[in-house]
Amino acid sequence: MSPEYNYGIPGVLKNAIDWASRPGGKSALYGKPTAIMGASMGLVGTARMQLSLRQALTFNNCPCVLQPEVLVGRAQEKFDPEGNLTDEMAGKLVAQLLENFKVLILKTRSQV
Ligand SMILES: Cc1cc2nc3c(=O)[nH]c(=O)nc-3n(C[C@H](O)[C@H](O)[C@H](O)COP(=O)(O)O)c2cc1C
Repeated sequence: MSPEYNYGIPGVLKNAIDWASRPGGKSALYGKPTAIMGASMGLVGTARMQLSLRQALTFNNCPCVLQPEVLVGRAQEKFDPEGNLTDEMAGKLVAQLLENFKVLILKTRSQV
């Protein structure tokens, strides 16, 4: 789960990906199944960041769950003060994404 910074991947997350992606082709990140979620205060809820993150994962040969996209816009209205997600639709999408992620992990493992 990531926010969006200036239409892109927050620098700290990008730096973590860059480190985890070395040595190229043999890194800890290489080929690992992935899933992306994002939340931001903007209307499009990290859509631009997610596209850019998908590119970085593609370069690292990481299969990534395609659907559902979890874009939590206006996030300040969808979490309680303790940080729990309170929006029903967003909660359902997160649950479905995690279910699809589990399937992707099992599929990827059976191919190794
Ligand atoms: C440097 C910076 C750039 C941001 N750029 C965007 C952006 O491009 N799109 C967007 O929807 N939200 C943007 N945000 C908002 C964040 O995605 C996120 O919703 C917000 O930072 C969370 O609140 P907090 O900073 O008070 O923790 C930005 C926030 C920061 C700090």
